[in-house]
Amino acid sequence: METQLSIRDLTVDFDQGRQFVRALHGVSLDVAVGETIGVVGESGCGKSITWLAALGLLGKRATLSGSVKLAGTELIGASEKQLSSLRGGKIAMIFQDPSSSLNPVHRIGHQLGESLRLHRGMTGEQASAETMRLLDRVGIANARQRLNEYPHEMSGGMNQRIMIAMALAGEPDILIADEPTTALDATIQAQILDLLRELSSENGMALVLISHDLGVVADMAERVAVMYCGRVIETASTDAIFDNPTHPYTRGLIAALPDLEGPKRRLASIPGTVPPPDQLPPGCSFAPRCTHATPLCDVALPALLPVGPDAGHSVACIHSGPMRVEKSKAPARQSVTAELEPA
Ligand SMILES: Nc1ncnc2c1ncn2[C@@H]1O[C@H](COP(=O)(O)OP(=O)(O)OP(=O)(O)O)[C@@H](O)[C@H]1O
Ligand SMILES: [Mg+2]
Repeated sequence: METQLSIRDLTVDFDQGRQFVRALHGVSLDVAVGETIGVVGESGCGKSITWLAALGLLGKRATLSGSVKLAGTELIGASEKQLSSLRGGKIAMIFQDPSSSLNPVHRIGHQLGESLRLHRGMTGEQASAETMRLLDRVGIANARQRLNEYPHEMSGGMNQRIMIAMALAGEPDILIADEPTTALDATIQAQILDLLRELSSENGMALVLISHDLGVVADMAERVAVMYCGRVIETASTDAIFDNPTHPYTRGLIAALPDLEGPKRRLASIPGTVPPPDQLPPGCSFAPRCTHATPLCDVALPALLPVGPDAGHSVACIHSGPMRVEKSKAPARQSVTAELEPA
């Protein structure tokens, strides 16, 4: 499959005055043309900053390294002018925080019109007609009346639809939807996901769906990347993630999903919390919470390596195969790697 977007070894360091703190540790991910991928992980795992960094939206206090190529064009180090013409055009993002997508002081019609002018050169009648079409497409009734309203005059679900319409205005090849349904009730959530699914297949648009909820991603994505503490710790086809989850963290996320079919049971949760970026343990970041951790996990940093029979299934856990250590602070590295056994 042709690659639309390719992220390689992306790192993000935040300048926190006294020190630089690394929040993203070499993330690599590919998105194929027209593909839907899901990015999951608990709060603070680095899901949003991966894509904000890719789009050059983290501001001056973030230092980036690595590569992000959009249809072959390098975005890391690109000029602001070049980035702003790609953003909203070739690549669009629906932000987790609606206030960064919608401007409270402008009417909806004005904001959509601006996007159309900027990315497709539309003005006047043509822009009005396209605005109406977009609002209609995202399921907003009374489009003509809605054009004159401000974001605060609409419900959360309606604002989410407007943000999708804004993102579509530039006819992007790839849409990044960051927690697009988190604040919505279950019915509206399902409607928005259906809409995103329809739009991506209709327009051949690749979709990156970011969610803390593996359940949301399971229905939508062909592939899943699981993130923990600024790293991708497992990636595979959605089927392989559910049939053969390998990282203990992924297994924990699956165990925490509510069981819709079986009898009601208590929701399992992974003990402990995600450590902040400046307090990561030296070895595997998940080790302090992991029920399978051994002393080696506290010192050895696992590499993301292929595992199992499914192509494209990789995992970063030293217990899922031999020789999986990327970097070890242990003095006798050779002797410890030799002790590893498959899980
Ligand atoms: N501008 C910033 N300066 C310093 N640290 C930051 C900044 N933005 C994010 N971080 C830190 O980077 C880490 C990853 O943040 P990110 O927003 O990507 O998490 P997330 O996975 O999207 O979480 P959530 O599910 O809550 O949205 C967090 O520890 C966060 O505190
Ligand atoms: Mg986020």
